[in-house]
Amino acid sequence: MEAYLFDWLSLLGRWLHMITGIAWIGASFYFVWLDNHLEAPQDPRLREAGVSGELWAVHGGGFYNPQKYAGTPPSLPAKLHWFKWEAYTAWMTGMFMLGVVYYAGAGSPLIDRQVADLSPALALCIGLAFLAGGWLIYDQLCKRLASQNRLLAVILAVLTSIAAWGLCQLFSGRGAYIHFGAMLGTIMVANVFFVIIPGQRAMVDAAHAGIAPDPQHGRRGKQRSVHNTYFTLPVLFTMISNHYPMTWGSALPWLTLIGIAFAGVAIRIWFVMRHKQQVTGKTSPWPLLAGIAGLIVIALVLRPSAGPDTNTADTPAAQFTKVQQIINARCVVCHAAAPAQPGFATAPKGIRLDTPEQILNHAHALRAQLAARAMPLGNVTNMTDQERSAVIAWIDRGAPH
Ligand code: HEC
Repeated sequence: MEAYLFDWLSLLGRWLHMITGIAWIGASFYFVWLDNHLEAPQDPRLREAGVSGELWAVHGGGFYNPQKYAGTPPSLPAKLHWFKWEAYTAWMTGMFMLGVVYYAGAGSPLIDRQVADLSPALALCIGLAFLAGGWLIYDQLCKRLASQNRLLAVILAVLTSIAAWGLCQLFSGRGAYIHFGAMLGTIMVANVFFVIIPGQRAMVDAAHAGIAPDPQHGRRGKQRSVHNTYFTLPVLFTMISNHYPMTWGSALPWLTLIGIAFAGVAIRIWFVMRHKQQVTGKTSPWPLLAGIAGLIVIALVLRPSAGPDTNTADTPAAQFTKVQQIINARCVVCHAAAPAQPGFATAPKGIRLDTPEQILNHAHALRAQLAARAMPLGNVTNMTDQERSAVIAWIDRGAPH
């Protein structure tokens, strides 16, 4: 019953996390797009009123004409819309998911004893330390290097790469990836909470008091929201990475993570440049090409290498029997209609491996999980390396049966 309750918590938490994440990133993409498409207003009355840019758009059967003011408008209306709850709720639901899936769930997908023999409590502390530490270091660097954006970008790239490496020395591949994403996501939300929103509040207060706002609020907010823009794609990759064991299960998971994260940043850089097209005239294709080339190289490096080992004297049926014996011993405690493993109400992910058809149907998924050493979860059933290679080799031979 408890396991069933966890499944529901996980479903509702994930659903809400997706909804709020879409609302947040969607609004953030929209405002980056908006900012980069504004054109100087034609109407002299608008220019006099302090409008520095405007654009026209049609959407959902209506025409829209957003306008941006160069500084603070002469007067602010009583109703001013803020965009902050999307970010806060995305973070809160994300932390909830970390708790349900990685910290409290049955088995700990965070711990891989072949990487580091951590206790669940220690793993939890390390995970939270990365989230908090990431923000503290990042925030200090932004404050100290406020006027050296390029140097700051280089230092941030180096430090995030070190964090990716460090996480992969401590956690299972998928646990490391999700913590890398959660660390960047935490920085993004903290930017909104501690810097961008307080800055905007100070600007609004100044406007109400009829005094010129301190320009440092605008500068700081801009710096942080630029960082947030470039973190978005790497964060979103880590959020879906858990379905792709070929990435975090690779021989050098940290290098794969750094490579994909940089490809994401490069592609986002290109999109932002493209939005600005009207201003600069043309968009250099290099960031996009670099991002795509990076992804192609990673895909090539990670391709499954071993050619099928056809050197077996057994009949297809005998080969399959051996594989079934291994799976019965190592997987079926959890992957059965009524799992014997405590803490499991139903077969995880609906994958049952207690019938020949099921094994054959899931052969591809099985291979990915075995090659990534993601299954058996935490290797609770003590699967040996020989057994692992035997099942993989059988699948590579075309799963004879
Ligand atoms: C201790 C219980 C346990 C054992 C033993 C176990 N699994 Fe799993 N398996 C899980 C859980 C939990 C999940 C869901 C993971 C998640 O939430 O992404 C899962 C998911 C899977 C998936 C689907 C992955 C996905 O994300 O689509 C496959 C395939 C799989 N297991 C194969 C195996 C194989 C093969 C074995 C034996 C070598 C095995 N499992 C042993 C618990 C177990």
